[in-house]
Amino acid sequence: MNIIIRELRADHHNIARLLVLMRNLIGLIKKADSKNEIRNIRKCVEYMKAYPDEIHHPKEDVLFARLKERNKSSAVYVENLLDEHKILTRKSKEFYELVRGIEEGNIVSHDHLKMVSIEYIDAQFRHMRYEEASIFPMIEQELTISDWKSIILMLPSGNDPLFNKNRKKYYASLYAQLADSYKISRAK
Ligand SMILES: [Fe+2]
Ligand SMILES: [Fe+2]
Repeated sequence: MNIIIRELRADHHNIARLLVLMRNLIGLIKKADSKNEIRNIRKCVEYMKAYPDEIHHPKEDVLFARLKERNKSSAVYVENLLDEHKILTRKSKEFYELVRGIEEGNIVSHDHLKMVSIEYIDAQFRHMRYEEASIFPMIEQELTISDWKSIILMLPSGNDPLFNKNRKKYYASLYAQLADSYKISRAK
């Protein structure tokens, strides 16, 4: 498998872990004090804004644009995914504003928060599944070695601030929680 595609798939795996944790956190929120859960959900969304929206999707955009040049019939898939990247970035911002608002004292019903979260999480999973099933295999098939050589120079740089050995201190407690929940879900 191409190394860049492998990295993108590894990102998906990590993002999926985070989304599962988010879903669990939403399930834990009750009417009583749930400051910890809300803070962790906010950190999850901050990560989504900082890495998938800022680095992962822009990387894919470079690959998708090259695929479109190589294979015109891919245009419909590519346009669709480029649009989805914009929509997902907007959704992250809206979701972040909602959670920040709750932390600052806005009254938001649990049902509304749950509905927005589930919609957000499902949209992210749908998007990743679609990429893995349709566009990644096309990219691997169509791009040439010289494509990859030039693409590497065009990719946005930036380390994953959470799923990385040099993770930011800011995400340390979230990562610990992720590691715990992952162990538990694998043990089941
Ligand atoms: Fe994407
Ligand atoms: Fe992706």
